[in-house]
Amino acid sequence: MQIVRQLDPLRDALADFRKSGFKIGLVPTMGALHAGHMRLVEMASEQCDAVVASIFVNPTQFGEGEDLDAYPRQEAADAALLEAAGVKLLWAPTADQVYPDGYATNVSVGGISDGLCGAARPGHFDGVATVVAKLFNQVRPDAAFFGEKDYQQLAIIRRMARDLDFLHDIVGVPTVRDPDGLALSSRNAYLTAEQRANAAALPQAMQAAAKAIAAGGKVATILEDSAAHILGSGFHKIDYFELRNADNLAVLDVFAEPARLFAAAHIGKTRLIDNIPVS
Ligand code: PAF
Repeated sequence: MQIVRQLDPLRDALADFRKSGFKIGLVPTMGALHAGHMRLVEMASEQCDAVVASIFVNPTQFGEGEDLDAYPRQEAADAALLEAAGVKLLWAPTADQVYPDGYATNVSVGGISDGLCGAARPGHFDGVATVVAKLFNQVRPDAAFFGEKDYQQLAIIRRMARDLDFLHDIVGVPTVRDPDGLALSSRNAYLTAEQRANAAALPQAMQAAAKAIAAGGKVATILEDSAAHILGSGFHKIDYFELRNADNLAVLDVFAEPARLFAAAHIGKTRLIDNIPVS
């Protein structure tokens, strides 16, 4: 696996892949890889000839007081995992290759970025859309792979790709979970043993709520009761616990398919997010 940090050698390597007729799959990450990321790599390997993974802890998607400095960085271990999984190239740009001196451009996807994590983390999705647009232009993949764990991010990237004429496929990959239901996330590393044990209350409450909503229960009551249950199980703050249309993310007061339940809640110093289909 080649590890490339500068744009010129990246372009040379990609030109070689294209000359060989390879279909190029891009898996963008911020590193601290876990089985969820490796599932993205696996899907990319199934659908493409050359997988390019990127690792870049993107400063513009972290707000003030968020965990940019503490965000886990373990490039050597990540590179070993990617190489073992058959990734051909790791794009690990230096900061100036993404944000050159005087950088002044912002990609902002209206509407769909506003609620859920967009409300709790102002500016976050501008940072995501901007860096993903840059990665798309830098790598020019045939397909790009994103986890459904960050479902709003995936919806925003799909919208941006349609709006800005990125023509490659955007592939959403189902969330990978631990046996107790907790969605894998690089931020799970922040949890103490006790918090980790309590954290499963979030997906478990979501599963119970999804079942009750699909069975015809009153949406508002179910959401309220589930939120109270989560707050009684070791979480101290809920940013949102909402039922939304799975395509356009509009709020649903009454169950109608396609629907998804979205949650973000704080346990200790860690903010966990999750989403599941309701059907
Ligand atoms: O999901 C992530 O890890 C990041 O938001 C992404 C898509 C790599 C952009 O920095």
